[in-house]
Amino acid sequence: MNNLKSQSYKIKRSDYEKRNKHRGIVIWFVGLSGSGKSTLANGLQAKLFENGFNAIVLDGDNTRLGINKDLGFSDKDRNENIRRVAEISKLFIETGHIVINAFISPFENNRTQARNIISDTDFIEVYIDSSISACEKRDVKGLYKKARAGEINDFTGVSSPFEVPEKPDILVKTDEQTPDESIDYLFDQLKSKL
Ligand code: ADX
Repeated sequence: MNNLKSQSYKIKRSDYEKRNKHRGIVIWFVGLSGSGKSTLANGLQAKLFENGFNAIVLDGDNTRLGINKDLGFSDKDRNENIRRVAEISKLFIETGHIVINAFISPFENNRTQARNIISDTDFIEVYIDSSISACEKRDVKGLYKKARAGEINDFTGVSSPFEVPEKPDILVKTDEQTPDESIDYLFDQLKSKL
């Protein structure tokens, strides 16, 4: 027995959703480093804001500088990274937020775990699909170069696996679209679900 009891609150999720005039939901971006996750999360958040929606972005680089700064890039730490973010997302849904998550989230079973923590009906998986060669060519942060030179270990797509999502709810091909086109496409796909 751990002697814990879940608290319930006077103001419910349904109260927030009614006032916000949209539902709480998690939009989970999966994709390689440099595929465009952060750019699209940023743009989608702005588009949602302009249209009266309340959205928060959780991003791998940012959360790893704060709440997850004790975690590295072993399989175990990546799983823990995603598990914590799923739990945090759940808290935001309870206050009616749209949560946009931008994490590589490379492992299928870990993504399923996140979906189960959050609940199937509140979880939209978006695969931000870009070939490794395109990510490597862009190499915005210079990390692929370092990974190829052996200066960074366990780098996704180079020395750590990335399991391609088999059945994402939404697929965005960033090699074939401009960021603005991808953001408009995402907004159109999501509107009816919010
Ligand atoms: S995840 O695999 O656990 O989901 P997450 O999205 O939080 O990864 O963090 C990825 C970011 O960390 C990358 O965008 C990159 O800037 C940075 N990074 C540093 N080292 C690595 C590494 N070994 N593999 C992948 N990303 C890394």
